[in-house]
Amino acid sequence: MPEPLVFLNGEFVPYESARVPVEDRGLQFADGVYEVVRYYDGRPFRMPQHLARLVRSAAGIELPLPPVEEIRQAMDTLVEKQALQDAAVYLQITRGPAPRAHGLVPDPKPTVIAIARPARSVRPRPSLRAVTISDDRWARCYIKTTALLPNALARERARRLGADDGIFVRDGFIMEATASNVFVVQGGRLLTPPLTNYILAGITRGAVLDLAQAESIPVSEEPISAHLIYEADEVFITGTNSELGPVVAIDGRTIGDGQPGPIFNRVLAAFDAAVRSPQPVGARPS
Ligand code: PDD
Repeated sequence: MPEPLVFLNGEFVPYESARVPVEDRGLQFADGVYEVVRYYDGRPFRMPQHLARLVRSAAGIELPLPPVEEIRQAMDTLVEKQALQDAAVYLQITRGPAPRAHGLVPDPKPTVIAIARPARSVRPRPSLRAVTISDDRWARCYIKTTALLPNALARERARRLGADDGIFVRDGFIMEATASNVFVVQGGRLLTPPLTNYILAGITRGAVLDLAQAESIPVSEEPISAHLIYEADEVFITGTNSELGPVVAIDGRTIGDGQPGPIFNRVLAAFDAAVRSPQPVGARPS
């Protein structure tokens, strides 16, 4: 696979020559925010929602953003220049270079980086095994910051326990997985934890809620007790990279009949149609 082109501070440069200063605050303080946007057939999926969340994240860390239209244009151009059809664009904006000091810099020069890589939708989706993990992250998980070490360590812990992913539990309630949101099917209803400061407002989560409603599947955003998740009929995760993934075992206990369930299959079919449709589905902001 050829090295991707990199968008760096207004320029498109070869991967090997893209450089950032050693004292970028993104390196020293994880002082930055990011987005991952999927492109299907060369078109971005839910770009307005991604940009709206980027603005919320930047406001959450008091980071002045370059004009959002320029950011959008950069991502589109990156995909076009490389003639990508199905791609994932990683966008990262840090507070930029400054001599190391904890306080925020008064006049930051943000570092804007975007990288597009080919992405493939794997069908059928492989079934996933998850473990629950105590949520020891900070209390501002609604901000999509690059400070992902707790998520990375939780993913690794899940792997060492023989699972594919970890589901964060806080005060006895399900929050989200390490890089995705969690949905549960119980008695024909589709449930997902409500948006609070403790979870990310996933773009795929918003799409799934819209699609389920359009499919007349009853949906509810409500707290999900961790000890009840084992009794769920179905569990699945949603995220830009993983799209929709069926979870068939949690903490070694089989969920439902151990197969991707009927509601999952219906929502996935609707999702696969929506991502390739020129018409955006639903008006949910995220
Ligand atoms: N992660 N929750 C967390 C903690 C996440 O990191 C992500 C996405 C999601 C799902 O959000 P969305 O549907 O907008 O992708 C939920 C990205 C993709 C990542 O870190 O690569």
